[in-house]
Amino acid sequence: METCAIILAASEDDRMRTADTKVMLAAAGKPVVSWVKKALDQAGIHDQMYIVSYRQEKVREELGESVAFALQEIPLGTGHAVTQAEPFLYERKGATVVMAGDTPLVRAETLSGLIRSFEQGSWGALVLTAEVEDPAGYGRIVRNDAGDLIAIVEELESDAKTKKISEVNSGIYCFDTELLYQAMNRIEEREEQDSGRFPLTDVIDILSRQGVRVGTLSIDPVDFFKIRSRRDLSIASRELNNRVLERIMNDGVTILDPQTTWVDDDVVIGEDTIILPGCRIHNSCVIGKNCTIGPNTNLSFTYIGDHSTLTQSEARQASIDKNCQIGPWANLTDGAEIAENCVIGSNVDINNSRLGADCLIHNQVSLNQAELGEGVTVGSQVSFAYNEGDLDNRIIVGNHCFIGSQSCLIAPVTLGNNSYVAAGTVVTRDVPKNALAIGRQTPEIKDNWVLRRR
Ligand code: UD1
Ligand code: MG
Repeated sequence: METCAIILAASEDDRMRTADTKVMLAAAGKPVVSWVKKALDQAGIHDQMYIVSYRQEKVREELGESVAFALQEIPLGTGHAVTQAEPFLYERKGATVVMAGDTPLVRAETLSGLIRSFEQGSWGALVLTAEVEDPAGYGRIVRNDAGDLIAIVEELESDAKTKKISEVNSGIYCFDTELLYQAMNRIEEREEQDSGRFPLTDVIDILSRQGVRVGTLSIDPVDFFKIRSRRDLSIASRELNNRVLERIMNDGVTILDPQTTWVDDDVVIGEDTIILPGCRIHNSCVIGKNCTIGPNTNLSFTYIGDHSTLTQSEARQASIDKNCQIGPWANLTDGAEIAENCVIGSNVDINNSRLGADCLIHNQVSLNQAELGEGVTVGSQVSFAYNEGDLDNRIIVGNHCFIGSQSCLIAPVTLGNNSYVAAGTVVTRDVPKNALAIGRQTPEIKDNWVLRRR
């Protein structure tokens, strides 16, 4: 069956206190609305129309051109929001799912279950409902003696008896598209007569009166958990993160402390890798098999090959090949590329630099805009000085070079293969292959100076 979806995201909530639109706030590393899109995509519903407010640019940018958008200038209710999709629904057949864009916990299985049940019965509309402990604020599901849905009554219109009903409207529906389209016209007539606001639940009312078959399907309330506050955002983030960690653990990854581990949905981690407590792994990172990451390591847009260890470090836009040992307190940024079998010690900064295989970098080293060949050794407290922003201002180090402790290389400079920089040397000129560069102040030695000073 041809299936499309209308996602309502035009009404703002002042409680969020954001300059952004609410659905663009991140829950577990991804905008709220993108989680909804992902669930729809996974359920095979790719034809999506988002009803957005005047703050729509970022939503459009985030969701891209594969989905459609309509602007609801004034939020006059959920029914009014759906009427903005009229051109999208015109001459369409099949089923239309309608749901809110601020429910990031909706699961793909729930949406495919809805479609399946809709296809199996000859429904005009199916409403997802749930029993909840505290139904306040939700539309209540009112049934007749036969148990059929007869109305959805909003909190404000509820009398004392209706308020006691614990079965509520999830705000997720599946409609016969043609019937929904026809009901839109009826609902617009009502709008003119009434207050000017109209709810989508009116469509259910219109369809029931028409004698169309309207049914319900019971789901877990977690699926329509709505973001209404920053607190809700943190609850949703925790749940989404738990789902990601669950998937990763099922893929054979050990996560020692799920409470302090945050992994984005688009991260890939290989079997037998161990993630120690306090790690945050974001933005499409790919980590190989048998790695050990952490504790307290932050990764973003980073690749790590098999059998590598990254201890208590940061990496952003970095690539680390297999069998590397890095950290603690390494900081790899902006295109740092480390080839296989490298060992990088503590407090090492590698920025916009490439290292060949088998390099050994000792502690407290700062490498910038550099190109190191294979098998290079860099002693402690070496720095590569360069002109920030001048990308031609590079330092090239040939294969098997040795750079002694406390040396400084000032860009631009090239060290030929197998050359040697003595400890404490400031290198300002190119060093030919196999040569030694040495430049130190020879200390003066004053015999018995200490005794005289006393
Ligand atoms: C709605 C349902 C209620 C249900 C609840 C589930 C109606 C009238 N009521 O309640 O029965 O129990 O969801 O959470 O539908 N929106 C727009 N434009 C508007 C108004 C709303 O785009 O003019 C969007 C909102 O951004 C939101 C969604 O529609 O994403 C739902 O609106 P909201 O006000 O949160 O739902 P309720 O009216 O509380
Ligand atoms: Mg409302």
